[in-house]
Amino acid sequence: MSKILIIDDEIMITSTLSTLIQMMLDYEVFTSNDPKQLIESGLLDEEKIDLVISDFIMPYMNGLDLLSLIKKKQPHIVPILLTGYSDKESAIKSINDLGLYYYLEKPWDNNELIKVIENGIEKSKLENELKQKLVIIEKKNNEITRLYDLLRRDYDQEMDNVLEFVITLSNLVEAKDAYTENHTRRVADIAIALGKHMMLNKEQLKYLELGAIIHDIGKVSTPESILNKPGKLTPEEFEIMKDHPVAGARIVKPITALQKTSEMVLSHHEKLDGSGYPNGSTADKIDIETRIIAVADIFDALYTDRPYRKGMTLEQSIGILDSDVIAGKIDGRLVHILKEMIGSGEISKIYHEY
Ligand SMILES: [Fe+2]
Repeated sequence: MSKILIIDDEIMITSTLSTLIQMMLDYEVFTSNDPKQLIESGLLDEEKIDLVISDFIMPYMNGLDLLSLIKKKQPHIVPILLTGYSDKESAIKSINDLGLYYYLEKPWDNNELIKVIENGIEKSKLENELKQKLVIIEKKNNEITRLYDLLRRDYDQEMDNVLEFVITLSNLVEAKDAYTENHTRRVADIAIALGKHMMLNKEQLKYLELGAIIHDIGKVSTPESILNKPGKLTPEEFEIMKDHPVAGARIVKPITALQKTSEMVLSHHEKLDGSGYPNGSTADKIDIETRIIAVADIFDALYTDRPYRKGMTLEQSIGILDSDVIAGKIDGRLVHILKEMIGSGEISKIYHEY
């Protein structure tokens, strides 16, 4: 039940108001005829009052000072001032200072008084509900932030473990294939740079890096005699070589943390015009991450030494990429970015490192 406090030094007024409110509204009413007594009574410490109506001119303390004191003790309270006509100015001034809800002039109109009290109590209830809801929302928010931090930490830790595992796997291939030494790391660095230029988000970039490092993992099942053959591969040997994307995807797919890279591993030799392998997929089936790895992989293969030939110059390598773009095999946007990276020195930095 809502609680109302009425303070006026005239007993006639407190008793009239009290009777009126109890008749018209189902509220509990407390009254006081002396501010000093009220403060000393401890009522304000014991009871949670929802609304207070105070007279202005009283002995010991005026209504505004009393209301401000009460508001300090009970900040949620709705304060109403009962004033004579001559005190109106002070009441208006205190509306803002004190957060006065309303002022009523004596003699008051009963209907107006009841309406003001009802509205004041309603306001107080709504504010309380809102506060409670805010507290609940803040608690939930804190809990969500805490859980998110925990997940984030677990996720980062998991990603670090996965990265280590992936590097170990790719080392397996590099140990077998003289050509791939540092190839995967360079492809990964070029891929990350291309990915950033293509505005991939942080998570996409992370998987792109993993995918690039692991893209040739299937070569663990390719015979070394084919991998390190100094001359050109026979058609039969090339067919065996072409198995490595499928073999790689088979290795990667069952590992949950690497599932997002399996498409990159499977399709890094696909061409946008459908002339690639293993599935002859076309542009609509080849995602941006796979296209990026393809361009980075081809560029590095052209630019660095192979078992059967020396690496090409930058101009020659880009020339071949350009003709692949014209033929509709690889993504022209990526080759364009690659040229910009050559111009800005980004590429030579990567090759300087590995
Ligand atoms: Fe490959």
